[in-house]
Amino acid sequence: MTDITTALDNKSVVEGIRLLTEQYPGAVAFSTSFGQEDQVIADIIWRNNLPVRVFTLDTGRLFQETYDLIDLTMARYKQPIDVYFPETAAVEQLLKAKGPNSFYESVDNRKECCGIRKVVPLNRALQGVKVWITGLRAEQSDNRHDMKALEWDENKQLYKYNPLIHWTFDEMIDHLKTHNIPYNKLHDKGFISIGCAPCTRAIEPGEHPRAGRWWWEISHKECGLHG
Ligand code: ADX
Ligand code: SF4
Repeated sequence: MTDITTALDNKSVVEGIRLLTEQYPGAVAFSTSFGQEDQVIADIIWRNNLPVRVFTLDTGRLFQETYDLIDLTMARYKQPIDVYFPETAAVEQLLKAKGPNSFYESVDNRKECCGIRKVVPLNRALQGVKVWITGLRAEQSDNRHDMKALEWDENKQLYKYNPLIHWTFDEMIDHLKTHNIPYNKLHDKGFISIGCAPCTRAIEPGEHPRAGRWWWEISHKECGLHG
């Protein structure tokens, strides 16, 4: 087999995803949080009928605007989106022990909540998956700066494909506009990177794009999904 990374060189998003679905039939999945990057990728997958399973992690704490966008996206594309929800017993136990807002109290508490609401459901969603497509972009953070389009994830034992890794913010917005893709109305109110409602705020002009995520923490801008 040709080295897969070399085979992906200079491929467009649609070509790259198509190639991976040919190499790993039935084992390619895309995780969407309905962010701007994700809406671009979903649009490319569905407009080109690529055989990719699309799923989202509904943490139970998303913004109403995000739920509205899920509705809009389902109505526009009429394509299946698998939804993974946290395990009831784990959430009930957390709420009983620490209340609904424990994530503000410490990094450990925050990681515990992200673990229950995102990481465990993600691992369930990725069972049997050989290629996990994400909307990561290098510009988003220092941590993502050196990531490659295709990476082998040793822990998860799968390829992670980040087809927009080298896209600029402007390229992404151009694509959204050209194809009239539905987007989260919070983007019009100063939000860039959008996660759970209690853990995301709008940012000021000039602030780092991820400054609105877990803003009360000094430097922990990841939740365990990507490091
Ligand atoms: S996070 O780690 O800080 O939460 P971010 O919001 O930047 O991640 O999103 C990066 C990529 O992670 C998205 O493009 C998407 O592929 C995946 N992702 C993040 N949150 C979710 C979610 N709730 N459901 C599905 N995929 C998600
Ligand atoms: Fe919990 Fe906040 Fe993490 Fe969402 S982002 S899972 S509410 S700690």
